[in-house]
Amino acid sequence: MTKKIAIVTGGGDCPGLNAVIRAVVKAAALRGWKSVGIHGGYEGLLDPVQVEPLNHREMDGMLVRGGTILGTSNKGRFSAKTGHGETRLVDEGIILEAHDNFRSMGLRALVAIGGDGSLTIAQQMYTAGFPVVGIPKTIDNDLAATLTTFGFETAVSCAVDALDRLHSTAESHNRVMVLEVMGRYAGWIATHAGLAGGADVILIPEIDFNYKAVCRKVAARENEGKHFTIVIAAEGAKAPGGSYVTSGDSGENREARLGGIGHLVAREIEKRTGKETRCVVLGHLQRGGQPTQWDRQLCTRFGVSAVNLIAAKQFGKMVALTAHGMAPVDLADAVSKIRTVPPEGELVQTAKALGISFGDK
Ligand code: F6P
Repeated sequence: MTKKIAIVTGGGDCPGLNAVIRAVVKAAALRGWKSVGIHGGYEGLLDPVQVEPLNHREMDGMLVRGGTILGTSNKGRFSAKTGHGETRLVDEGIILEAHDNFRSMGLRALVAIGGDGSLTIAQQMYTAGFPVVGIPKTIDNDLAATLTTFGFETAVSCAVDALDRLHSTAESHNRVMVLEVMGRYAGWIATHAGLAGGADVILIPEIDFNYKAVCRKVAARENEGKHFTIVIAAEGAKAPGGSYVTSGDSGENREARLGGIGHLVAREIEKRTGKETRCVVLGHLQRGGQPTQWDRQLCTRFGVSAVNLIAAKQFGKMVALTAHGMAPVDLADAVSKIRTVPPEGELVQTAKALGISFGDK
């Protein structure tokens, strides 16, 4: 009997999802297996079941296509709250219903492509008997057990492009420009983009900032005759007092929607320094569009590696990028903690050695 495997994309979308789907479908086809896609995230495994055959001959163009052809969801019966403080798993009855449907379709393995939330669900499904392998996706780059996730590099490129553009307008108007980027618990996008895009101030969730220090940097630049300043702030950077700035309720079972720290910082800088200040929120531009060449090859390697794991019947694993190439890690380890920017690590220290302020001193 021909082996049939399923692919699901869960959580927020991310550049490179289709490139992963393409790699899985093509590598599976070369082994003589069939692939199906689950539509709309894990929810597609419930009644009514939403699966569609994925033909390897129809994967043309998928390497560069943004979004996910399968659709995705981070709400509904499969939404789980994970990791950070409170962990709430999916109702066991829902997992069992999905498992019954999975088996009745003759599916032999599930490739779950997701971030910490979706992979926590994948781990729960594995514990309930699903033959699952995971692939690490998130622009936030905050999954433990892999050197990097796919989508991150594309998001950083988008942020650097924005910083380059903001530089010229900031300089022309002698303004402070604040760019707000994504990064809920981890400031990887802000830190990498800040370094690559020549930011003067980088604000990240890992390092509490204070306005005095941020404004000191603006003033120091004025004294040097540089009449503009570029600030990049991760959405999860904490305002004094230590709480996240949110932009509304995300709905039941979901984490609060972050957003607004950039505007807050811009207003405060203008008030305290008298310098004209503007804020740009990059938002979902970071998640849309074509993946970079780095992400395309990474997605391809992740996809092929996942098929290799299925062939070796190594379930309950996530494929990870290590110093020695692709390697399996336990899903349980991958979701046990998130990876954040170490404040004393080389990245932050390099930035500080250049005089970049993290708003802490
Ligand atoms: O987890 C990735 C992420 O990009 C976070 O940085 C951000 O808070 C979140 O997704 C926003 O997702 P959505 O707008 O889809 O709820």
